[in-house]
Amino acid sequence: MRILVTGGAGFIGANFVTHLLSTAAIERVVVVDALTYAGNLENLAGAHRDPRFRFVKGSILDRGLVEDLLAAEDIGVVAHFAAESHVDRSIRGPEAFIETNVTGTLRVLEAARAHLNARPDKKDSFRFLHVSTDEVFGTLGPTDPKFSEDTPYSPNSPYAASKAASDHLVRAWHETYGLNTLISNCSNNYGPLQFPEKLIPLIIHNALAGKSLPIYGDGQQIRDWLYVGDHCSALATIIARGKPGETYAVGGNSERANLDVVGTICDLLDHHRPRNSGSYRDQIAFVADRPGHDRRYAIDASKLERELGWKPERNFSSGIEATVLWYLNNGEWVNNVTSGAYRDWVAEQYA
Ligand code: NAD
Ligand code: TYD
Repeated sequence: MRILVTGGAGFIGANFVTHLLSTAAIERVVVVDALTYAGNLENLAGAHRDPRFRFVKGSILDRGLVEDLLAAEDIGVVAHFAAESHVDRSIRGPEAFIETNVTGTLRVLEAARAHLNARPDKKDSFRFLHVSTDEVFGTLGPTDPKFSEDTPYSPNSPYAASKAASDHLVRAWHETYGLNTLISNCSNNYGPLQFPEKLIPLIIHNALAGKSLPIYGDGQQIRDWLYVGDHCSALATIIARGKPGETYAVGGNSERANLDVVGTICDLLDHHRPRNSGSYRDQIAFVADRPGHDRRYAIDASKLERELGWKPERNFSSGIEATVLWYLNNGEWVNNVTSGAYRDWVAEQYA
């Protein structure tokens, strides 16, 4: 397999590249990434030592660049991760989300279409995997059935709306142009390399820095947490065995309220890196809620299990402990990504 990974220097993309390179069947992995604030070449340090790997700094908005890479590298699979991914940033500045997530996806689709028009012999075996989110489905009440592939779209944040729009483009490119697309709608990921603007790494980082642990609203919002390594194995499975034109819901079957997640992190830190006195729980602070805050996400991933044989390996308690230990052991990575622009974001968001 020769694969182009867009956004491969970000959290999930970089974990996916490592996952791919651990497989002998992979011939070539090319990453194209614009290295925005969320992209970090350090995430690909291991990959750089592998002769099958190539990194190209560039934007998915540059259709010509993507098309050239598809041809020059004889790419058979596109795994499209590149996006603006943080809901709070989308609330403060939605434009970048439309540009990258909607127009950017359009450009990658058009690059793939032009490439396959020039190489019709490749069209049947080509796969375009669009990595999307469960947030496109909106929010659930406490007793609603979980999201599945049949749930109607109902996005509530600018981020979710931009991802929903990109999903619709991908679907249309399948129906109209016969592009072999696959869409995954996954729940919240956590694990190594996640940028500390998202809940779990932010809480670990703030706790260790002696700062307050901000809980939006009452902290009873529920997310269905999936360890990033399990998301990567789901994506590899979908590429290998997914049916073109289909979508797959991916989740960890681990619904947790935010306040419980934060409490669990505090307990793990109390055990592995105790404070001089008291508990990290003393740092918890309730702050103003996020506008349009979705109350509950939960995924029914039974199609993926039934049709493609995928199941997550980690449960939340083992995944969260592995994650806390990773952040404790990778203080230098955290220091590098939390300097400069990160501080400006935190100052603005939590003022
Ligand atoms: P991330 O923000 O950590 O990484 C995004 C990457 O995309 C960065 O490396 C960034 O430099 C790159 N990028 C941004 N704009 C670009 C452009 N114009 N051209 C090329 N590269 C660009 O995001 P993530 O958490 O790794 O998420 C990856 C994908 O998975 C996204 O599409 C997101 O919507 C989806 N997703 C994320 C989650 C989650 O919990 N994090 C869950 C489900 C789906
Ligand atoms: P986040 O990690 O931003 O993911 P998403 O919004 O995509 O689900 O947030 C996860 C949950 O944690 C969400 O309900 C918002 C909440 N949250 C806080 O309570 N405090 C924070 O500082 C952050 C960043 C998130």
